[in-house]
Amino acid sequence: MEDSIDVILEDHTGVLSPHRPHPAVSACLGALFTAVYGVWSTFALPGLGTIPRKLKVPYLPSSRVQTLNIMKLLEGRTGRLVDLGSGDGRVVFAASSTGFQCTGFEINSILVAYARNKARWNGLPTSQAAFVNKDFWKTDLSHFNNVTAFLAPGVMAVLSEKLLKELPDDARVISCRFPILDWPVQSSVGSGLDQTFAYDIGIVRAHLRKAPEAEV
Ligand SMILES: C[S@@+](CC[C@H](N)C(=O)[O-])C[C@H]1O[C@@H](n2cnc3c(N)ncnc32)[C@H](O)[C@@H]1O
Repeated sequence: MEDSIDVILEDHTGVLSPHRPHPAVSACLGALFTAVYGVWSTFALPGLGTIPRKLKVPYLPSSRVQTLNIMKLLEGRTGRLVDLGSGDGRVVFAASSTGFQCTGFEINSILVAYARNKARWNGLPTSQAAFVNKDFWKTDLSHFNNVTAFLAPGVMAVLSEKLLKELPDDARVISCRFPILDWPVQSSVGSGLDQTFAYDIGIVRAHLRKAPEAEV
């Protein structure tokens, strides 16, 4: 009888069960999860509160392969480059090392401070690598002829309208991971999550002018 009560208690409390974690282990896991979330949200979310919900894009750094893919699609090009949501500055640093005059717009002030310090540490003048703590949706992009972006699928249609309105005909737009669906891809490098797409604005405009005619 004593044995069976032990078994019932064990089943209900789990105190002696080998399958349930000890309460101290659960508490530690809970604390660890909270700490990881706290650190992630500190770096990924500041600044996004001012942006409409459907345009929010959290921080996720591009991989080394993605950055290399961007650089391949920039080969042969020169001039001013803007990274829309520059994160820790890795795309700006890679592009400035090949001669572009780069600007990164970034809403997250912690990431901007990190990127600016890194630029200072590496002796890069702001004429080569400038980091601006500003919402790129509210920024005129008309004086950039190279645009890089690693954003989110839900914002690409809105982004395409903004770029078509503002960019010069000779501009190239490079998007990591997420294509711009209505635009003809000029070239693409990589595959899967690292796939990166290039679009030339003059060609996109010509294509979009022709497209309605083709439908008639
Ligand atoms: C997916 S991360 C890409 C970071 C970086 N370009 C890279 O490739 O490593 C997107 C970045 O865009 C920033 N961001 C999102 N919306 C923004 C906005 N409206 N203006 C400026 N930065 C923004 C986020 O804070 C985040 O750092």
